[in-house]
Amino acid sequence: IRNVRMVTSTAPEAELAPIEQAKKRAAFACGEKYVQSGCRLGVGSGSTVKYLVEYLKQGYQNGQLKDIICVPTSFLTKQWLIESGLPVSDLDAHPELDVCIDGADEVDGQFTCIKGGGGCLAQEKIVQTAAKHFYVIADYLKDSKHLGDRYPAVPIEVLPPASQPLLRSIPRDEGGSCQLRQATKKCGPVVTDNGNFIIDWQFEKNVSGRDWLAIQQRLANTPGIVETGLFIGCVDAVFFAYSDGSVKEIV
Ligand code: 5RP
Repeated sequence: IRNVRMVTSTAPEAELAPIEQAKKRAAFACGEKYVQSGCRLGVGSGSTVKYLVEYLKQGYQNGQLKDIICVPTSFLTKQWLIESGLPVSDLDAHPELDVCIDGADEVDGQFTCIKGGGGCLAQEKIVQTAAKHFYVIADYLKDSKHLGDRYPAVPIEVLPPASQPLLRSIPRDEGGSCQLRQATKKCGPVVTDNGNFIIDWQFEKNVSGRDWLAIQQRLANTPGIVETGLFIGCVDAVFFAYSDGSVKEIV
């Protein structure tokens, strides 16, 4: 049983499309509640997190957030943080973080998340694991009862030499089908920040009683798989923002 708290957000949102307003509200509401001065913060990746960076920038510039340390989960987030004038660090200097805040592609009723739509899942999971608390910020399109209702696949980061065998073995062992994520027809596969490829595993829908933890463990133990976009049992709270303007913190 989850607790739902209505929360407020001071996000200014003139001229934004409804879905962008929701992303911004979720990001600002989470930042307002869980980022304090002195915080060592893991900063996730994606369009929702971009609003979190906006929130951090405002707080840092107006002096409300002092002495924060930001550890990004991707090259792009690092660029956003640098452009915003925020203090950027890494896990070498700060191996223990207070909080990590990230988006998700889908979150089910048990807080199992699919992440990696942007291809940053391995670093996201490393930074999340280094943090004491993990909060997910998401718009209403990510809220699902059963994984797969909202996002069709589990992204899996793989070492390039293992990609062709894995494209065959994952569907053989787990069902569904797999595709190597392509950048463009001319450029070939997407290459992650770590120099790896992404396989999108389209799992079979409507399979009742699926054990996502067992699937995650099997995949993580497969040679050549670096990490999967399944985040299980690590979320402290989810901030969902809805189209009616409300934000709910679900814990
Ligand atoms: C990137 C991620 C993102 O958190 C996820 O794709 C959500 O992105 P957005 O906020 O743009 O919807 O996991 O790898």
